[in-house]
Amino acid sequence: MEERLQKVLAEAGIASRRKCEEIITAGRVQINGEVVKTLGVKVDPELDEIQVDGRYINQQTKIYVLLNKPKGVITSSADPGGRKVVTDFLPGIKERVYPVGRLDYDTEGLLLLTNDGEFAHLLTHPKHHVPRTYQATVKGVPHGTILDKLRNGIQLEDGMTSPAEVEYADVNPQKNESIIQITIYEGRNRQVRRMFEAVSFPVTRLRRIKFGPLFLQGVPRGKYRHLTPAEVKELKEEALSTHNIQKGQ
Ligand code: URA
Repeated sequence: MEERLQKVLAEAGIASRRKCEEIITAGRVQINGEVVKTLGVKVDPELDEIQVDGRYINQQTKIYVLLNKPKGVITSSADPGGRKVVTDFLPGIKERVYPVGRLDYDTEGLLLLTNDGEFAHLLTHPKHHVPRTYQATVKGVPHGTILDKLRNGIQLEDGMTSPAEVEYADVNPQKNESIIQITIYEGRNRQVRRMFEAVSFPVTRLRRIKFGPLFLQGVPRGKYRHLTPAEVKELKEEALSTHNIQKGQ
């Protein structure tokens, strides 16, 4: 993302923003090998090579983590009310990371966090359709026509849901309970819960088990792991390709 040069320098810890302006006008800064003395020039710290007095400024290390979020935790970096937040579960991460989309307070499972704003934007933008798979526990056993409704689209107050994949994962007649696996291609607020409420099978437990090519499996509750560079690449590619499919390309 492009930002003003003096802001980028200040955020890289070179000096205060005011002092960075002086450094720029003094001709001490180069962008992609060219001296730049004008204030207000915009740069992308991820793409442009920026030097001060011939030294490259610190580029921020990109961090991508997959957390198995427990229920009863807020998807946020801080809570003024003192409740637990997802970043409380990343003790080894010093960088400031932000959630990619959100899971409700009571939803568990796969949540990505990163300090790469562009990556987060790409994955959560409504024009991209990265599949998200959830296991929803409901009271009772919804029959086939109910599942068909969920598959074909449910009228919610913010519009019709797009086609989803829906199947039984488990049925427990003793407990009068079933687990339904649902894959949606949108990320609307409380979407899965609202879809099941609309067919009168409120969700009692919700867990995200898959996001694009990534699985929750192998990460214990409340723990996290780093994504591999290959996984980051695959996610980006999936977001871009789902955009193309939607546009019929
Ligand atoms: N759908 C929901 O209802 N809740 C979530 O947290 C995610 C998807």
